[in-house]
Amino acid sequence: MKTAERFHRARRDPELAVLEGFHALKHALRFRAEILEVAAIAPERLARLAESLAPDLGTRISDAVTEVLPPEELARLVPRPPATGVVAIARRRLATPAQALDTANAASAVALIEPRHAGNLGAVVRVAAAAGAAGVVVVGGRDPWEPDAIRGAAGLQYALPVARADRLPETARPIVAVDPGGEPMDECPIPPGALLVFGTEREGLDGEVLSRAELRVAIPMRPEVSSLNLATAVAVILYASRRVG
Ligand SMILES: C[S@@+](CC[C@H](N)C(=O)[O-])C[C@H]1O[C@@H](n2cnc3c(N)ncnc32)[C@H](O)[C@@H]1O
Repeated sequence: MKTAERFHRARRDPELAVLEGFHALKHALRFRAEILEVAAIAPERLARLAESLAPDLGTRISDAVTEVLPPEELARLVPRPPATGVVAIARRRLATPAQALDTANAASAVALIEPRHAGNLGAVVRVAAAAGAAGVVVVGGRDPWEPDAIRGAAGLQYALPVARADRLPETARPIVAVDPGGEPMDECPIPPGALLVFGTEREGLDGEVLSRAELRVAIPMRPEVSSLNLATAVAVILYASRRVG
């Protein structure tokens, strides 16, 4: 099978992940993903990037390259060729909602209710990994491993359990609804190990989720501002809850 065909198939394979760009490959390697193939257009430039941005990986990034492509070929592999000129196929690290919400990890966990934008979803995974969250559950049809979400997360799906679910799972964690209509966060501390639940980009959280929450918190905003971007709201609350927990 030709390289382009393998990449096209991998995009549709629920067990595989297409990593677009240097940062996704770097994080996948750091978090011990199983890399199946790596195509690059300029291995010497890739080696220089690795030397300056990921010296901890030594030559592992360059050593992972399985195919060197002429620049025009990259666009046949992925719809938006990354500026760093490298793409890869790896095995996904699939997690269940129970693993993402496992209370053995005392940090807060994140649930997103029906996020619409893969880039937002990826940015949430990225900040959840950075803040040391226990896991991320994506409720609804959006796949947290789709290529644009991996790109938005810079490949940090490999850093913590990330799962998809049809509905908000049962959990022993205290459920906190994060909603502009809640109590200002400075006035209601977030309990340790909470499941922080965020709404969809346009409509926010629905009544069912709100009724399951033991707390409803808001990030204060200047009057006339309606809401923050989803990933920004996750970042604010995760770091605030980290301070308390
Ligand atoms: C773009 S907002 C949705 C806006 C929606 N019109 C609403 O009123 O909830 C997406 C999600 O980000 C979170 N969010 C955004 N701004 C927030 C704020 N100021 N306080 C608490 N949550 C916020 C909420 O979870 C919200 O459901």
